[in-house]
Amino acid sequence: MTFDKIYQYNFPTTIRFGAGSSQELGDYLIKNNLSKPLIVTDPVVAQLGFFIELINGLKMKNLSVEVFSDIHKNPVKSDVYKGTDAYDNYQRDCIVGIGGGAALDVARAIVLRVNHREDLFKYDDLIGGDVFVTNDVPHFVTIPTTAGTGSEVGRSAIIADDVTHQKKILFAPKLLAKIVFADPLLTMELPAFITAATGMDALTHNMEAYLAKMPHPLCEGIALEGISLISQSLEQAVNKPDLESRSKMLIASLMGAVAFQKGLGVVHSLAHPLSSLLDTHHGLANAVNIPYGMEFNIKGFEHKFKRIASTLELKDTNGEGVVKYLFELNSKINIPHKLRDIGVKQEHIETLSDLALADFAHPNNPKPVSREDFKNLYTKAL
Ligand SMILES: NC(=O)c1ccc[n+]([C@@H]2O[C@H](COP(=O)([O-])OP(=O)(O)OC[C@H]3O[C@@H](n4cnc5c(N)ncnc54)[C@H](O)[C@@H]3O)[C@@H](O)[C@H]2O)c1
Ligand SMILES: [Fe+2]
Repeated sequence: MTFDKIYQYNFPTTIRFGAGSSQELGDYLIKNNLSKPLIVTDPVVAQLGFFIELINGLKMKNLSVEVFSDIHKNPVKSDVYKGTDAYDNYQRDCIVGIGGGAALDVARAIVLRVNHREDLFKYDDLIGGDVFVTNDVPHFVTIPTTAGTGSEVGRSAIIADDVTHQKKILFAPKLLAKIVFADPLLTMELPAFITAATGMDALTHNMEAYLAKMPHPLCEGIALEGISLISQSLEQAVNKPDLESRSKMLIASLMGAVAFQKGLGVVHSLAHPLSSLLDTHHGLANAVNIPYGMEFNIKGFEHKFKRIASTLELKDTNGEGVVKYLFELNSKINIPHKLRDIGVKQEHIETLSDLALADFAHPNNPKPVSREDFKNLYTKAL
């Protein structure tokens, strides 16, 4: 870090964290004179017991509730348009996103679209579209039901084109939720596989944010504590979940997303093409790639890996110790070590390498990553 520059740090979201916090939603809406929420979720969560209870609780408080859950696993533009139609047709006055990263991203994109009716991808951050986000947006509340993306505290939404499946990023500080109800009880029944994959996404956010090249000591402190909490709880949350492990994972995933305003890195750029090309779950794609990506990053950043190793309380206090830890953690939570075990084939590597090079995450990696590097990393992980 150099001390002759001015940096800007933003930590604006109110978070109500703890078992039962989601039950405060109704009173919160009433206190803010909101009575007609559009609840945005996915079709799986819409059927779960806690969701139905939550909706019934709102109705008991005489709130007018409409649920929109017609979204894809990897959300697309038409999901956002349909959700905005629901907002208009039912004359809603606020938006509550309840779900994993996919549902929260759609909810956030609807928040944008309500008063910004140009083509959705005109607002794509990668082409400077954030400057067109000039109008007011509806009151937005988030309730996460996975512990992974941390999208509940994010200010971006990842939405794909219906035809090309190319992912676009809608980004604006206005898209932050006004309040997050982070309730670990909602994650108690998460299946082991989703817990493992989303948990490794959270670990990747914290590790990549800690290593990312932008100077940001606040985020680095948060990222290291996030790494520590995940090392204490992920295995337990997957194999023998209890309230403590679920709580630690939920707060650590949120911390990862707060921390990654500092940037991400090579692992996310290796992972994103697997989702766009092969529809791989985002967390799983990170989980398989993270040991290889971290190994690539060690040289030149040994001092940072030493901090990670000591945070993980490893005996082997160098970068190689961290890589070994990641492989062992993956084994304990049933994540495969090789890309071929999640459907990647030799013939995919050239296209994957092109897509990875074009990805937005790696320019913040502590060291530059070339197309050759991506090809080598995919080949090693295959
Ligand atoms: N905005 C961001 O900053 C950001 C960052 C990373 C990823 N993402 C996006 O997030 C998405 C991935 O999110 P995710 O990893 O949370 O997965 P997800 O939202 O796809 O959810 C995974 C599965 O778990 C189910 N599920 C969710 N909560 C559950 C619960 N409590 N109990 C049982 N099942 C439950 C869902 O229905 C879904 O089938 C991707 O679309 C990715 O692009 C966004
Ligand atoms: Fe991620």
